[in-house]
Amino acid sequence: MIQAHTGGTGSAALTLSGVSLAYGEGARRRAILHDLSFDVEAGEFLCLVGPSGCGKTTLLRLLAGLVRPDAGSIRVDDAPVEGPSRDRAIVFQDYSRALLPWRTVAGNVALGLEGPGARLPGALREQRVAELLETMSLSHVARHYPAQLSGGMQQRVQIARCLAQSPRLLLLDEPFGALDALVRQSLQDELARLAKVEGKTVVFITHDLEEAIYLGDRVIVLAANPGRIAAEVQVDIPRPRHQLETREDARFLALRHQLFGLLAGH
Ligand SMILES: Nc1ncnc2c1ncn2[C@@H]1O[C@H](COP(=O)(O)OP(=O)(O)OP(=O)(O)O)[C@@H](O)[C@H]1O
Ligand SMILES: [Mg+2]
Repeated sequence: MIQAHTGGTGSAALTLSGVSLAYGEGARRRAILHDLSFDVEAGEFLCLVGPSGCGKTTLLRLLAGLVRPDAGSIRVDDAPVEGPSRDRAIVFQDYSRALLPWRTVAGNVALGLEGPGARLPGALREQRVAELLETMSLSHVARHYPAQLSGGMQQRVQIARCLAQSPRLLLLDEPFGALDALVRQSLQDELARLAKVEGKTVVFITHDLEEAIYLGDRVIVLAANPGRIAAEVQVDIPRPRHQLETREDARFLALRHQLFGLLAGH
């Protein structure tokens, strides 16, 4: 297994060791994740791929602190994860349910600046929201409501809201799965750029091998029943990447070949 890391800073932002989780009671109890151990470096963009039902969303919920493991430990910046934190923002696949329909676009983004632990004084919040809307090309729809937006725009609102939280760790669960190919590609590029500019540590889940290679500094492949690490590959393709050139690069094609074989189980 390849252990070298690129793209990060060399220090672990996230460490999982021996993490296992089972669901159900008594005879119905079933191992969902088994003995997962890996590190994510500060500033690294890690992609996780695996078959449906292998436990990807469950793993993300563990990282977010929404679920506790039965065994093993999860540490962020060397402190144990004991519950949700503003430092770890989740972007859900289903953007239509992730936004508050009665709040405007600006109001939804401002949610990331509200609540317990909010760091920014009130007067600066409006400015921060305006900056994020600008970054995500949403300024022109600031006063619109989510139902008035396209899917790609709604997903950008969700990402802007997560960035408003100023998280150290960005957790994304198949965020572009429901979008058409062109919108998906432009959001991939925006996310990749933002993650590097803002120095975010990213854990990105996808079904799509090509998306994982295109975005990742590293790709971890999960196997199912129970969910466990099947393989890990380093993506040594320089950034910024380009939708056409990168996908035609011999290194990209070789990784695609390798990962396809791993996912298919041979
Ligand atoms: N709260 C729960 N209680 C019982 N079983 C659960 C619960 N949440 C998930 N599971 C089971 O855990 C397994 C992993 O689910 P999970 O949603 O993590 O998979 P996934 O890899 O994200 O799948 P997909 O690619 O389809 O989104 C599935 O078999 C699912 O039925
Ligand atoms: Mg899932």
